[in-house]
Amino acid sequence: MISASARLAGLVDELVRVGDLSPGWQGAVSAVPRHLFIPDTVWKEDGDRLVPVHRADDEDAWLGLCYANEPVITQVDDGDPDGPGLVGHEITSSASRPGVVTSMLARLEAEPGMRVLEIGTGTGWNAALLAERLGAANVTSVEVDPAVADRARAVLEATGHPVAVVTGDGASGHPPSAPYDRVIATVAAQQVPCAWAEQTRPGGRVLVPWATDFHNGALVAFTVAHGGVMRGRIVGNVAFMRLREQRGIRASLARDVRDAAGARRTFTDLHPYDVMGEYDASLAVGLRVARCKPVIEHRAEGSYTVWLIDPWSGSWAGLAHEAGAAKFEVRQQGDRDLWDEVEAAYRWWDRLDRPTADRWGLTVSREGQHVWLDDESNPID
Ligand SMILES: C[S@@+](CC[C@H](N)C(=O)[O-])C[C@H]1O[C@@H](n2cnc3c(N)ncnc32)[C@H](O)[C@@H]1O
Repeated sequence: MISASARLAGLVDELVRVGDLSPGWQGAVSAVPRHLFIPDTVWKEDGDRLVPVHRADDEDAWLGLCYANEPVITQVDDGDPDGPGLVGHEITSSASRPGVVTSMLARLEAEPGMRVLEIGTGTGWNAALLAERLGAANVTSVEVDPAVADRARAVLEATGHPVAVVTGDGASGHPPSAPYDRVIATVAAQQVPCAWAEQTRPGGRVLVPWATDFHNGALVAFTVAHGGVMRGRIVGNVAFMRLREQRGIRASLARDVRDAAGARRTFTDLHPYDVMGEYDASLAVGLRVARCKPVIEHRAEGSYTVWLIDPWSGSWAGLAHEAGAAKFEVRQQGDRDLWDEVEAAYRWWDRLDRPTADRWGLTVSREGQHVWLDDESNPID
């Protein structure tokens, strides 16, 4: 069996080789054995279900998961999976992919001695890396799930990283330890909380994975101005689970796609890949079309259906793709014509000359969140 330390060295080498580990963070990553932070039961995807993997059943496989450059699912269904066999449906906590963690740490531009607030403690691994480099006394981490928070607090303590782990809603930040120099969210926000700007000193940096119902996600790097306002641009492509209270309703084909016989039928020549598969297009569509969740259902080689679901209103659309086809049948049901909305948003993005992700920006203040193209004088909402 390959030892944990050899696996850690291998992970560090891989992260350096692919350019995801900056020299400033290499020492911290090498000093923190990741497997100490991973629970003995983790989960893996099996079709549309999540099934457990127990360390006691296969230590080698479990260690392999701990040191792969992949996310590890550490909690499903808020810690309450159903039986028999404890099958989960929704990922509710994970150890993020190491390459994402280390590239976000580089993007945070945190230096030793800075005070940092992390949102989403999860396993505590990221908090331990911050503690290694900045000093544990400078790190506060907020976790909404009490069991996850308790476990992370204990592991951080046991591994010599006595970070302040606060159990609570990270959307409120943690005022008692403010002001911070940096805030890093390791959980996605659709509405970015202004508390994070208000609790960061002017000139400080706030890093947030930002998601819409249609598109997950984009990494936004904000700079905080005076008066609790922050402005930022998209600097990367990351997908995270949502802040618990912003999760909304999960889309379910079984529950939401009903009354197919009564659906309105049309055809489109817009290829679904152009909308769903092109990052910049999908991001822009998400800015225009709210409450629309895409689900791809593979039927056979080259054949798939793109479902668009509004689980709040019960509207849905299905676009059937067949290999080599130039036109696609669209069925739409409910109060909204979801495909028509998505296609209109795609045409809008096209007419804007197809802006790339880095041209979109966000301003967050007590008044709310505003999206703009290139600069604040060009708002889209
Ligand atoms: C991707 S995991 C974080 C990974 C973590 N940083 C690590 O190193 O393992 C996201 C975490 O955010 C937590 N979370 C979700 N909503 C939250 C909220 N409103 N406040 C604080 N934590 C939240 C989840 O329970 C989950 O543990």
